[in-house]
Amino acid sequence: MRLAFKMIGFALATVVSGAMLLPTGPSYAASGEEVINARIDFMKEELGSHWKILAAYAKSGKGSLADVEDNAMALARLSKKIPEHFPKDTGRGKYSDKMTRSLPVIWTDWDGFKKEVQRLADGSEKLARLAKEGNKDAVVTMIGSSGSYAKTKIGCAECHKTFRGARVK
Ligand code: HEC
Repeated sequence: MRLAFKMIGFALATVVSGAMLLPTGPSYAASGEEVINARIDFMKEELGSHWKILAAYAKSGKGSLADVEDNAMALARLSKKIPEHFPKDTGRGKYSDKMTRSLPVIWTDWDGFKKEVQRLADGSEKLARLAKEGNKDAVVTMIGSSGSYAKTKIGCAECHKTFRGARVK
């Protein structure tokens, strides 16, 4: 009888301590899949939302040069956060082509990748300066009037060309 109680006690202790080892939420180290989803959100929601304001100005004259200046500066600041969204080996090869468009060359040519980060930082600072100076034509030329970030000269396009693979359905 006493042995049985001991065994129940042991079993309970095991269950309780086991439960304490389980992940309990966001403070748990992020999995590769979470890193990838957060990165795609960052590109779409953060870089993308500022880009949309620039594109709307160049394409359809929406907003003002002051808006261009503000959003270009926001992009310059956000560009500094790009590298931390690309921890080693969280791209294709390790994860499915459907899940991520990040190519392994990001990590084999990390210096080249960082140059593209710098291109965006420099490009958006230059754009903010042109906007501040009131140089409307140069602003529109630099953003590009197609509305597409694949054609802009501020620095989104080059990185995508080299480091982002084709979309897979
Ligand atoms: C230094 C490289 C780099 C720069 C600069 C960069 N991107 Fe990206 N971007 C990527 C990579 C790599 C991916 C693929 C992420 C993934 O799927 O894991 C991506 C993904 C995206 C996506 C997600 C949509 C999709 O289907 O892939 C959007 C939207 C996007 N980028 C917009 C932008 C915009 C707008 C800019 C410029 C303001 C920009 N990016 C600058 C590397 C970059």
